[in-house]
Amino acid sequence: VNGPRIAIFGAGRTGGALFHGLAAAGEPPVLLWTRSEATARAAQAEGFPAVSGPLPPADVDLIFLAVTDGAVASLAAELAGRLSPRTLVAHTAGALDLSPLAPLSAAGHAVGSLHPAVSIASRRTPLAGRAAALAASTPEADAVLARVAGVLGMPIIRPQGDRARYHAACAMVGNFPQVLLEAAERLGLGAGLSREEGRLAFGSLLVGAAGNAADRGPAGGLTGPLRRGEVEIVRRHLEAIRAADPNGELLALYRAAAWVALDLAEAEGAPNIAAMKQLLG
Ligand SMILES: NC(=O)c1ccc[n+]([C@@H]2O[C@H](COP(=O)([O-])OP(=O)(O)OC[C@H]3O[C@@H](n4cnc5c(N)ncnc54)[C@H](OP(=O)(O)O)[C@@H]3O)[C@@H](O)[C@H]2O)c1
Repeated sequence: VNGPRIAIFGAGRTGGALFHGLAAAGEPPVLLWTRSEATARAAQAEGFPAVSGPLPPADVDLIFLAVTDGAVASLAAELAGRLSPRTLVAHTAGALDLSPLAPLSAAGHAVGSLHPAVSIASRRTPLAGRAAALAASTPEADAVLARVAGVLGMPIIRPQGDRARYHAACAMVGNFPQVLLEAAERLGLGAGLSREEGRLAFGSLLVGAAGNAADRGPAGGLTGPLRRGEVEIVRRHLEAIRAADPNGELLALYRAAAWVALDLAEAEGAPNIAAMKQLLG
């Protein structure tokens, strides 16, 4: 193995997925540490060589802190002064910049972040082919993390500025498909479809539409009455949703999404944009 010697701290989903991806690419990390015995056991039961206990000595080139966002700063403070100064330390949190790693910077370490823009549901969630957001305090650290991303098969993106913007975007696409499916299933219940039938119909529609959007872009992938300028149909949608949902949540969701969809439809040259805007209020 010619790559950096890597340790992963945190054997939850993200630590596991990083370990799994690197091992599958022939560059297994030399250490997978986690705080609790319970998590180490759970990871071991899935075939990972996780260890737990007090912070272990880690004579490595790179440590990933794949721990809960709130634990990054405290772990960084704990590690400062205990590592060889050549060790690069990177977190995996989308919402954090490099400031929680300040105690390590102060101790002379290069620091960074590699955030998989992936909904990691298990330790074996594949990372290859999905993007990773890279940040680093030095060009050398940048090069090391870029190499690791390359080994994982992850193309790199470099969000700038307030990380909450980037992370909000990840959360919208990562978490709101579930919301859309729930909204559709609720409407389906009032249209004579059981939850199971709703899942069957709307789940596959969701996957197909997401695939279109990712392949063709938001505007190119847009279909339906807003794209076609069918004002009367959209008026009936609003009425039906209002009737089905006394709390107004689904109506608010439809209208907010429809306003963004209208921007896309307008860019695609859809008819009746002004009438649609009036209807949506
Ligand atoms: N899941 C995702 O979709 C995803 C995607 C990209 C990035 N991330 C980022 O990856 C990081 C880990 O998230 P996750 O989803 O993998 O979480 P997770 O599965 O819940 O695992 C959390 C890990 O953090 C450790 N931990 C928690 N508090 C700690 C503390 N005070 N000191 C030391 N270790 C502590 C846990 O150790 P013990 O269980 O042993 O106590 C566990 O190993 C987060 O920064 C998250 O934002 C997550």
